[in-house]
Amino acid sequence: MNTTVFVGGGRITSALVVGLRRAKHQGLIVVHDRNTQKMRALQREFRVAVEHDLQSAVTRADMLIIAVRPAAVAKALDDIAGCTGASRLLVVSLAAGIPLKKLRPLLAPQVRWARALPSPICCIGRGLTAVTFARNLSHPDRKRVRKFFEQVGPVLEMAESRLDAFNAAYSPAHGYHALATLGQAAQSAGLDPKVALIAAAHALADAIHNWRESGQNLSNLLNESATPGGTSAATLAGMDTAGYKRAIERGLAAGIQQARANARR
Ligand SMILES: NC(=O)c1ccc[n+]([C@@H]2O[C@H](COP(=O)([O-])OP(=O)(O)OC[C@H]3O[C@@H](n4cnc5c(N)ncnc54)[C@H](OP(=O)(O)O)[C@@H]3O)[C@@H](O)[C@H]2O)c1
Repeated sequence: MNTTVFVGGGRITSALVVGLRRAKHQGLIVVHDRNTQKMRALQREFRVAVEHDLQSAVTRADMLIIAVRPAAVAKALDDIAGCTGASRLLVVSLAAGIPLKKLRPLLAPQVRWARALPSPICCIGRGLTAVTFARNLSHPDRKRVRKFFEQVGPVLEMAESRLDAFNAAYSPAHGYHALATLGQAAQSAGLDPKVALIAAAHALADAIHNWRESGQNLSNLLNESATPGGTSAATLAGMDTAGYKRAIERGLAAGIQQARANARR
């Protein structure tokens, strides 16, 4: 049976573990974290195997997933490099912003590298994951990484240069933020809080659901739903005039900048 070891047992590891259990993952999942209490909680909540000793974790790993914050990556890889058998590993880094060219020198040259950016929504089997591979990574290794993440949602392979933009654009935080903003605006416009949130949730989720299900072109759907001279058209025009597009573009640019700054720490 294949063993996947997570180094770092925080938020994204927990979400992946939940999604993998839900998908009835066939291999063994082991988590190593530097906090004993966190490992105990993971063991208790998700019935996941934990490994307190990093050397034992590395020895058991067929695939090692680096799930520590970007600022903690160099130290974690330094510890892993000191473990016997680390050079035979397939390593997948989840760290946002840190390119392969910075990761590679931190472990032995034989290590096989990939990067993945999963979404916390993988806990319900619908998390979109972006993957990118070291140029020399073999076809079977690529397939293995892709299949691992496909258990918890769709996987998009892309050039590494696109990952920062993807990271800023795909977060489920956009959905929660849009829902909260529209809900608050609807409340300010006179709806009671519960109805405002329900109306906002339907406006966002039903439209996206329809776009996905119908396979229709997005601009056709937009035209259809916003009749010229009607309420929706006026609402959208008001939002655009107020700088809606510019706000989103600035938000993404700030996210990309932050990912790069975090990776430099
Ligand atoms: N969260 C997301 O939605 C998401 C999505 C895609 C990618 N990612 C990437 O995934 C990584 C983890 O993010 P996260 O949100 O899960 O972070 P997190 O909740 O802070 O979890 C990281 C865990 O790793 C532990 N850790 C740090 N250094 C360690 C080491 N050397 N050995 C063992 N354990 C160590 C941390 O312990 P301490 O608490 O003591 O530091 C913490 O428990 C980040 O690089 C992030 O860019 C996250």
